Amino acid sequence: MESNASCPADAAPLAKRQFRVLVGVTGSVAALKLPLLVSRLLDIPGLEVAVVTTERAKHFYSPQDIPVTLYSDADEWEMWKCRSDPVLHIDLRRWADLMLVAPLDANTLGKVASGICDNLLTCVIRAWDCRKPLLFCPAMNTAMWEHPVTAQQVGLLKAFGYVEIPCVVKKLVCGDEGLGAMAEVGTIVDKVKEVLFCRGSSQQS
Ligand SMILES: Cc1cc2nc3c(=O)[nH]c(=O)nc-3n(C[C@H](O)[C@H](O)[C@H](O)COP(=O)(O)O)c2cc1C
Repeated sequence: MESNASCPADAAPLAKRQFRVLVGVTGSVAALKLPLLVSRLLDIPGLEVAVVTTERAKHFYSPQDIPVTLYSDADEWEMWKCRSDPVLHIDLRRWADLMLVAPLDANTLGKVASGICDNLLTCVIRAWDCRKPLLFCPAMNTAMWEHPVTAQQVGLLKAFGYVEIPCVVKKLVCGDEGLGAMAEVGTIVDKVKEVLFCRGSSQQS
C-alpha cells in the first residue's frame, strides 16, 4: 500500500513488536523482486516491515503488491508543516531495528559512500545509528560492478560496519553474464534472520 503518511512510531503497539525491518529499495532492475522479498520477510514471525523507496525504484514494482507501509520522498515533505511535526527520516531511523537495502544500485552506493543525502532513503542511511545492523545487497551491470570505484565504495560501507550480502553471477536482464546480480531472496532473508536472531537480539529496543 502507499504511505498512510503517519509517523511509523504509531504503526503498532510496542508490546506486539519483536523486530522492525526497514527495507530500502533503489532503481536497479532487481527491485522487481521487492514484492517477493517483503512477503518472505513477513513470513518471519514477529517481524514488522516498512519500505523506503527511491523515485527510480518505483518503476520496477506496483505499490499494490507491497502489503506494508511504503514511504517515498513526498511523504518526508508532506509530513512536515511546522516545528512539532515529525521528521520522517529521523523517525524511521529510530523506528527500525535493522535496515536492509535491497537492491543497492550503483548510484545510491556512490551517494552512501560519500555521505550524500538528497532523498528520503539516503537521509535515513546518513542518519543511521551504526550500532544497529545495516545490510546491503549490491545489484548492477557487470561492467559497473567491475569498475574500480565499486570496490572502493563497497569497502567504505563495510568500514562503516554495514554488512554486504554479495552479488552473484547471473545472466543479467541486459543480456550480459557475470557478477552484479542481486543475491537470491532466500539468501537475503536467511542473512536477516541470522543477524536479528543470532547476533542482533541484544540490539532490540
Ligand atoms: C531498466 C533499467 C534498469 C537498471 N538497472 C540498474 C541496476 O541493476 N543497477 C544499477 O546500479 N543501476 C541500474 N539502472 C540505473 C539506475 O536506475 C539509475 O542510476 C538511477 O539514477 C538510480 O537512482 P536511485 O539510486 O535514486 O534509485 C537501471 C536503469 C534502467 C532504466
